[in-house]
Amino acid sequence: MGCCQYFVPTEGGADAFTVEMPRVTFGRGTLSEVGERALNRGIRRAALLTDPYLAETEHFAQARSALAAAGIDTAVFSEVHIEPTDESVLAAADFLKDGGFDGIVSVGGGSVIDTAKGALVYAQYPASFDAYFAPPMGAGQPVPGTLLPHIACPTTSGTGSEVTGLSVIRFVALNVKFVLASRHLLPDEAIIDPACIDTLPAAVVASTGFDLLSHAIECYTARAYTAWAKVSPAASRPMIQGANPWSDLHAREALRIVGEYLERGVADAADYEARDCLSWAATLAGMAFGNSGTHLPHALSYAVSQMSRDFTPRDYPGGKSFVPHGLSVIVSSPSVFRYTAQAAPQRHLEAAKYLGADVRGAAAQDAGEVVSRRRRPRRSSAGRRGGDSRKNYNVDARHRCPQWSQRRWSYRG
Ligand SMILES: [Fe+2]
Repeated sequence: MGCCQYFVPTEGGADAFTVEMPRVTFGRGTLSEVGERALNRGIRRAALLTDPYLAETEHFAQARSALAAAGIDTAVFSEVHIEPTDESVLAAADFLKDGGFDGIVSVGGGSVIDTAKGALVYAQYPASFDAYFAPPMGAGQPVPGTLLPHIACPTTSGTGSEVTGLSVIRFVALNVKFVLASRHLLPDEAIIDPACIDTLPAAVVASTGFDLLSHAIECYTARAYTAWAKVSPAASRPMIQGANPWSDLHAREALRIVGEYLERGVADAADYEARDCLSWAATLAGMAFGNSGTHLPHALSYAVSQMSRDFTPRDYPGGKSFVPHGLSVIVSSPSVFRYTAQAAPQRHLEAAKYLGADVRGAAAQDAGEVVSRRRRPRRSSAGRRGGDSRKNYNVDARHRCPQWSQRRWSYRG
């Protein structure tokens, strides 16, 4: 693609990219559409996956009653493991095998959606667990074929799993996480209802926001698709293919939103505009990295989460020791970007600019420091909406946010 400096043709390099996407519906209240949408997919009996905590929430009840209202028979599997393992995914696969289902609906965060993807694979194409993982962890076999229809309904604003063909699963015996990747894992539909994150605690919004932030920067600063070898036949082009104009498009907007709204969304659970925007940014970042891939902060995060022994995060259910994914990613991000900026300083400066940093006068050698510190230019209080602080923020206006809160729409149908 000759129009973009970053995507310079290379000898033997890829000269095309392919985008894989589910149907996307976004808007407050859209969780109530899940029954109608499942019915349109031909689903008459659905497996409804969630985790033990979400199973008690009104959002889960809403999805279940919407399916029932559409005449769809459901059976619930609520034993999803937070941070799924080979054992927990196989337990979900066993549930699917015996249920006579013709579709699956996942309601939850990344753990639930990733479990649904993995369980569908092993329920429909039984094999040793490592069969479909890439070497060195697995045998590298392709997922053999299509899976049952899957409607993913995220309840957090970070994972982006609802629009990717990726599932992160921990191998218990080896205490290592690895990614199961196939276009067959892409959910058929994603229903993103920002109302699901209204009740998320601040620490969860912060961690998931860090995850989405790193997704966006990582795919924006990944190697260009043109730097990867061209593959033949064209149908074997990998789903994870490096930064490309599609991933750029979504990463830029995700960065702009997270730079503008993350602090607000964490600070104030009633700031619906901020939380709606974060919800949308998470999906945008998923659309981006699901087609480009991430890089070092996500690779390093697995060591952080697996080697931690005594970190109990605030505001997470269960009181267990674990490192939330977003935190495990973000701890290394500043150091990583200081390092990777040497290879693509302009890209890192652009990422910093979209995040809201003041990049005026920054030279190439400053790029890593600028994006890592993301110094935000100070604005006068008059320049901020509603004044400098939330004290002046009009609560009623949040409920009327015309751009997001009362708007529903679908991508590709
Ligand atoms: Fe992530």
